[in-house]
Amino acid sequence: MRVVDLIERKRDGAELPPGELRKLVLAHTRSAVPDEQMAAFLMAVYFRGLSASETCELTDAMVESGATVDLSSVGRTVVDKHSTGGVGDKVSIALGPVVAACGVPFAKMSGRGLGHTGGTLDKLESIPGFRTALSVDELVSQVREVGLAVVGQTDELVPADRRLYALRDITATVPEVSLIAASVMSKKLAAGAQAILLDVKVGEGAFTRNPCTARALAESMVQLAERARRRAVCELTAMDQPLGRAVGNAIEVREAVEMLGGGGPPDLRDLVLRSAAILLSLSDLGVGEDEGRRLAENAVASGSAMETYRRWVSAQGGNPDPGALPRAPLSAPLVAARPGYVVRLSAHGVGRVAAALGAGRERKEDPVDHACGVVCLAKLGDRVEAGDALAEVHGPDEARLAAALDRLSACYELGPEPPAVPPLVLDVVR
Ligand code: URA
Repeated sequence: MRVVDLIERKRDGAELPPGELRKLVLAHTRSAVPDEQMAAFLMAVYFRGLSASETCELTDAMVESGATVDLSSVGRTVVDKHSTGGVGDKVSIALGPVVAACGVPFAKMSGRGLGHTGGTLDKLESIPGFRTALSVDELVSQVREVGLAVVGQTDELVPADRRLYALRDITATVPEVSLIAASVMSKKLAAGAQAILLDVKVGEGAFTRNPCTARALAESMVQLAERARRRAVCELTAMDQPLGRAVGNAIEVREAVEMLGGGGPPDLRDLVLRSAAILLSLSDLGVGEDEGRRLAENAVASGSAMETYRRWVSAQGGNPDPGALPRAPLSAPLVAARPGYVVRLSAHGVGRVAAALGAGRERKEDPVDHACGVVCLAKLGDRVEAGDALAEVHGPDEARLAAALDRLSACYELGPEPPAVPPLVLDVVR
């Protein structure tokens, strides 16, 4: 079929004949279909969506476009985790060590932050010496030897997604459920893990604000995993306020390490332990989620999760001592002007403030300042008195600190009554 006929069919809402979408995607990856036609096709998909079988075909074609990771030499069920991206989401940095300390190998390929959301790679690169550019062979041998590796995605994996995502980004066609599901799952399937925990963030600071869209995305991703004979569970978690307190890079790593030491903010701790329980139940340990939770709590309480963190970071060339993490030269508190309860704390706003301080980037080639960010000392529902510090900003110079404090004050709203705080885990799709 001619490409123009495929565009026309999708534009008119019809399903493509089996095999045509695969040919289209693979031809676009090898530049045999021009970007103009692919952009028009993506816009048609944006309005018409893809059927379940078209979404599977797209995912398979994207996996087929490049190399895949073979983790079979680990000899165990290797687990992985993916979040659709939020503000203050440092779960993977604590979750990997907890799960690995329970004896379950964890391998994750991760991305960088863009816009108001952070990325696990940027956070890990704030650790002095930490290498994220491991080859696939190095990744596999580290998972065999240390039980845990988190690396950047190699260029050989899923090249079709890189080309399509770049086009979606400049044609306003990123937010379409089937395209997102295929994009995320092709990378997860190519990365080789047998069991995958997905976390779709929902709310004002998330990529998906609408709970129905988030649920549809979760269901689609779990189905794609099952079809590929992988085990998958998807959590839907609230992203109306930042997760934990720290938003930045080094300050988020510090908070993840605090959690591994038995402290850290309660929401982060709860999400890490719940997520670990799910991953352990999907692993080859033969435990249910209740037993998984008990094992995860013991790994933290006994210090074995912290010990695993240190071995992992050292194996990737990093200094695991939290004291070695960079600190911004200046910091200042945001002070409450009057007493009240925190009734709104904008995750999106805090993410933007942290990015403007240097912690994030607008374009993917921009550098990040690992030391800067925001610590939200007061969270939704907390009571504060006039003069209490609501948050702290960590920045490179006085001008940016002052601008950050100004913008951060608009992220907080205080009210006379305690608000209803929604649960952190909104739903779980199995
Ligand atoms: N993250 C991805 O990896 N792909 C998308 O399409 C959207 C978010």
